[in-house]
Order: sequence, then structure tokens, then C-alpha cells
Amino acid sequence: MCGIVGYIGNGNVYDVLIKGLHRLEYRGYDSAGVAMVSPEGKLKIYKARGKVENLEQYCKDKDLSGCVGIAHTRWATHGEPSDLNAHPHYSDDGRLALVHNGTIENYKVLKDALTQHGCKFHSETDTEVLVQLIEYIKVKNDCSLVDAVREALKQVVGAYAIAVLEKDNPDQIIAARKSSPLVIGIGEDEMFLASDATPFVEYTNEAVYLKDEEVAIIRRGEPLKIVSLENEESAIDVKTLEMGISQLEKGGYPHFMLKEIFEQPSTLLDCIRGRVVEGGRRIMLNGVQDNKEKFLGEKRIVIVACGTSWHAALLGKYLIQDMCRLPVEVEYASEFRYSNPVLDPSDLVIAISQSGETADTLAAIQIARGMGAFVYGISNVVGSSIPRATDSGTYIHVGPEIGVASTKAFTGQVMVLTMLAVSIAQLRGTMTSEQIAQIGSCILRIPRLVEDVLKLAPAIERLSLIYTYARNFLYLGRGYSYPVALEGALKLKEISYIHAEGYPAAEMKHGPIALIDAEMPSVIIAPDDHLYEKIVNNVQQVKARGGSIIAIVTEGDTVIRNIADHVLEVPRVPECLTPIITSIPLQLLSYYIAINKGKNVDMPRNLAKSVTVE
Ligand code: F6R
Repeated sequence: MCGIVGYIGNGNVYDVLIKGLHRLEYRGYDSAGVAMVSPEGKLKIYKARGKVENLEQYCKDKDLSGCVGIAHTRWATHGEPSDLNAHPHYSDDGRLALVHNGTIENYKVLKDALTQHGCKFHSETDTEVLVQLIEYIKVKNDCSLVDAVREALKQVVGAYAIAVLEKDNPDQIIAARKSSPLVIGIGEDEMFLASDATPFVEYTNEAVYLKDEEVAIIRRGEPLKIVSLENEESAIDVKTLEMGISQLEKGGYPHFMLKEIFEQPSTLLDCIRGRVVEGGRRIMLNGVQDNKEKFLGEKRIVIVACGTSWHAALLGKYLIQDMCRLPVEVEYASEFRYSNPVLDPSDLVIAISQSGETADTLAAIQIARGMGAFVYGISNVVGSSIPRATDSGTYIHVGPEIGVASTKAFTGQVMVLTMLAVSIAQLRGTMTSEQIAQIGSCILRIPRLVEDVLKLAPAIERLSLIYTYARNFLYLGRGYSYPVALEGALKLKEISYIHAEGYPAAEMKHGPIALIDAEMPSVIIAPDDHLYEKIVNNVQQVKARGGSIIAIVTEGDTVIRNIADHVLEVPRVPECLTPIITSIPLQLLSYYIAINKGKNVDMPRNLAKSVTVE
């Protein structure tokens, strides 16, 4: 969490930084701040609690001149959201300013030592320790800023992406990273740095992704230089960005979330492009054929992920078990990492993460690889940490997801897992060529069918008005629809703040059924699959207790239609593809309920898109 931006060049520093902060606001919006040095060597720091727009308001009558600057948008970890705890933080003597994304685990020890040396602290953050430590080393060793940064980072335990500015040296920014992302944009006579490439994609498409424990020396008029903490120079690996500026704008929609829901026909098309070939008879997914022996040799698959990606992982289990007849375990990455897991080189671990930066998932990958398991990653953000930390993997290719609530990434992940399951089944011979062709040809039709599902939007918007003020919701599903129920409940919780629980429909009678009354709506995901008859019973059980029911059914359904209060019909697809189709009405229902309640759907309270803390 937290987003950082930096700029050195001849453009308007403040404008570049503020625009960049807006792009990174999905990473946290508890406070924002900028630090700029003017050509005559004046360091100015402005900060404000809350969103970036509050900072803009605060800066209206301020001196905004500068030739270099850094900025930050915060997701609070150490210390409440306040002006005082907002970044940039500055050294006691006012010569250095620093922004930080990550957490410093040994900050208490460092703070105590610095306090003994006479340092005064002004905030409750772990970050302030970094800037004070750098300044302390710089003065004590009478060294350059870059040397002080290297020495300070050797003493730090934790995760960091930092950028440091020096009052007396307005022609440079020093930046470094470990376990938190940092990318440098190289333009003509200007350089940028940011937590991801979105702040500078409109200025340059050349990017350098910093590696762990690398320090970047970004100087006006000089080429980028990168050194290790030991001061060994690294080669500069410039990548060309594929992202375009239009992907970062709302394109006429009132919110990124709605845009991303409606983008799904095209994002799913991008996701399957070039992967489902020969009219659906063969599936080619990156990293499967070239690691054939791993996919043939494994005895068990363990999938690790968090949040929405964990729901996709659960679907991955059903898909792989069904199609490949392999045992699959699904673990929350945060639990897995501390559970003393038992893995060996015959295990295959799949790690799923939209952002590619989730700290718990990254840690789970390191543990799994440490135990000799082969790790296959599924991510969305190209060049992020998880694809670089895994043995092999693939991207979902759904483009930048900016709305904090994940929508198009979820359907992209499920699509990739479906293609992965078919690819493994192809290798292992657990599916016939007819079965593969049937699913493959239907995958090719999915983008078109999703367009049809989206036509339900006006009906869902009307339906949302009836349920806006419900205080609790139950989401029920069985088989492939159970993870969809979990995901539907999560979407509602996170953007409308209504309590919702996802449950396996048959498990309801073992407890949650006690909650059902006229005040408690149930959303039941009941496509026409092999458990249809069973879920009809569960629908009856809810109805018999006076609960109102919104059911997602296959078009042409006649049975549930006569029991449920409202039905939303979706196109018929093979059972394994129903989650992609049935999850979309649930995304829309959450969106409209949250809008009716006047909530900020793109930036729900307390959340951040990229969770780089434990
Ligand atoms: C929910 C949501 C989160 C993320 C979770 C994992 O809408 O977005 O639950 O799914 O924080 O993030 P990634 O996939 O980036 O690892």
C-alpha cells in the first residue's frame, strides 16, 4: 500500500506529482503530500490528511515552484491518518525529505538508538526513522546522500520503496526498494519514479523496474545509474510499456469500477487471445508446455492467494480436480506462510495475485520455493514482483484495474485457471479431445456471452433500489457457484459496507439458516448444473422461512423462477464456465447498491488495491 511518485525534469513538477498521485490513489488515500526543491535550494513540504484533492486544496495559495520533487499517498499502518503522520517526512535539520511505501520492522530499535543520539521525532510513523537514520549517517560519515542511503538500508529490516530529496542538491533523487515496488520512467531530459508505471505512461513508455536492494541515482542531465547496497553497479534493463493512457481513464463511465465491469467482454477476449487455438481444440498457456515435466510429475497442487484472488483460487481447485484428477489444496497466503507447511519438490504451487505485489502471497512463494516446490504465478501487472519471484507463470492480460474492488481481474483469473486446467488435462490425458474441444469452443464464445449478461444492468439497477437498506445479506451457492457466492458477498461488503456472508448453500442448515427472516435477503447462485436439483431444495428452505430471494439462474429456468422473488437469467454455458457468467450480475448488484447509498465505490474506506504489508 501507499503510492510514491518522483520527478526531475523541465516540466511542471507539482502538476506531474499531483497527477501521478491521483493515478496511485488506489494504493491508499489516508493522506497525501509533496516535497519539492526550488532551483535556489528551498525545500517545501506540503501535506494534508485524506484524499489527494485535499492536498490540492491546501496547496492552492502555496509556492509551488520546483525543479525536482517527490510525493506520496498513504495507507496508514504506523500512526493514525493525520497531517503529522503524512509523508514526506523530513530529517531533524530539515535538509532531507523522504517518502516510503512498506513497513520497517525494526523501527523501534532504530528509533531508540537515534533518540539517544539526540534525534527528535515528530510523527508516530516507522518511516520517519529512515530519514533520520540517513541524515545521521550522512553527517557522521560526512558522505554523499547515496552512500548514506546504502548504509542506512543495510541496517533496516522490512519492506521499502523510498525516494529521498536533498535540499542542497536539487539535481537528484535517490531511490531504493526491497519487497515494495518501484519503477523508473526514462523520458527525454526527464526522469520519473513511481510505485507503478501509471503516473508516467503519458510521458514515456521506457521503464526500468528496480530489483530488491538496488539503489537508483536519478540525476538531471545524466543517465540513470543503479547500484547495490554494496555499491556494485547494475546493468540497466529498459522495458517498453504496453499500457496506454486511455486504459487509465474512466472513458465516459462515472466510476472505474463500472468501466471495468463493462470492459469484461474485451478483457476476456484479451485474456484468451492466442491461447485457445484450432477453433478451441487446443489450449496453449505460457509456461505449461515448456515445464511439461513439472506439470506431469506433480503429485499435488497447492494454490495460494488472498481476497478475491483466493476466491479465484478456490475455483481453480474445482477446475483442476475435475479436469486433471489431481488433489488440490487452496490456502490463504497469510495463513500458509505461518502454518509450517509441508511441501517437497514433487508439489506444484500456483500463486495468484492481480497486483503481483501482495506481501503475504510473495512470502508464501518464497517459502514454497525454499522447500523446493515449483511455483507458477498468475498475475495481471506486468513486471510486478510476483511474476519475477516465481519459476514460471502467465498474465491474465486484462489491463490496469483501478477500482479498488476487483472485477475484471477476477473473471480474468478464473479464465486463466480454466485454460490452465485444460492445458494440464491435455498433457496428462485426463480429458478427451472432444471434451477439450467442447470447452475450448465455449471459451471462445464467452466474451460475446458476457456482453449479453451486461444487458441485465438496468434490471439490476432497479432491483438494487429494493435492497439498498438491507443490513445483512446471505450469498449461497454450491459446487462452482460456492466461490462465486463468496466473491459476491465480498464485493457487497467492501463497497457498500453491508454485512454479507457467502456460504455453501447446503451448509446453511447447519447454522446460518437461523438468521433468515423477512429482513435478510439471500442471493442464490443457481445455474442449471449437476447440483441444480439440490439447490432448488435450499431455495425452498429459505423461502419457507420468509426470506426474500434473488436468484441467478440459467435462461429458460422454470422451477426457481416460481419460488424466488427475483430472478436474473444468464446464458447457458458448460458448468466449469458458469462462474464467469454468474459473477457479473453480482458485481453489478454491489455497484448499484453502493451507489444508492452514496458510497465511493472506487475508493472504499480502509481499503487499498495493493496490500504490500502483512
Ligand atoms: C477485493 C480485492 C482484494 C484483493 C486482495 C489480493 O475486491 O481486490 O481482496 O483480491 O487484496 O490482491 P492481489 O490479487 O493483488 O494479490
